[in-house]
Amino acid sequence: MAKILVLYDTQSGNTRTMAEAVASAARELPGTEVTLKTVDDADPRDLFEHDGIAVGSPTWCGQMTWKLKRFFDDGLCAWGKVEDKVGCAFSTSGGQGGGSEMTCLSLLSVMLNYGMLVFGVTEYSSPGMTAHYGAVAVGEPDDRELAACRMLGRKLVQHVHRVKGN
Ligand SMILES: Cc1cc2nc3c(=O)[nH]c(=O)nc-3n(C[C@H](O)[C@H](O)[C@H](O)COP(=O)(O)O)c2cc1C
Repeated sequence: MAKILVLYDTQSGNTRTMAEAVASAARELPGTEVTLKTVDDADPRDLFEHDGIAVGSPTWCGQMTWKLKRFFDDGLCAWGKVEDKVGCAFSTSGGQGGGSEMTCLSLLSVMLNYGMLVFGVTEYSSPGMTAHYGAVAVGEPDDRELAACRMLGRKLVQHVHRVKGN
């Protein structure tokens, strides 16, 4: 069983739409249990209970939101104890070039610091659309951006099974 947590913050719903796409793609794969949580409802101890963690944030000044930063800063109980967890990131920004990939990197950077195994995706979900640093979107995600979110969710499950030796 791959236990997946899709954790996100959102102010106007765009990141939630991405999170739902990541979660629904993960859920379609056999042997998967998926929990979708906003950062408001999450506790750092949730990290212990999952094998794969996708974290999504709106791009705020090129970084994750303060709520997600606080979640990880308050989550030091998990630091160094989640080394077998697989992590990935997704973000929506106001405009192209607005920093969504930097926001993914800010999320991946914290997960690296926690000791997690993080990944990007080499494949293209459609012509001109990939998720090398995580799935990204501009504003409300369109169909191509949602396809990249689904690709990220599938990859997360595949990597979890690989790490668990299933
Ligand atoms: C405080 C704040 C900072 C933001 N900073 C950026 C930014 O640096 N670059 C950008 O392109 N958009 C920025 N935006 C726009 C949001 O990233 C964008 O509207 C996003 O789609 C919102 O996602 P949400 O609906 O999940 O809240 C910012 C919005 C807010 C409220």
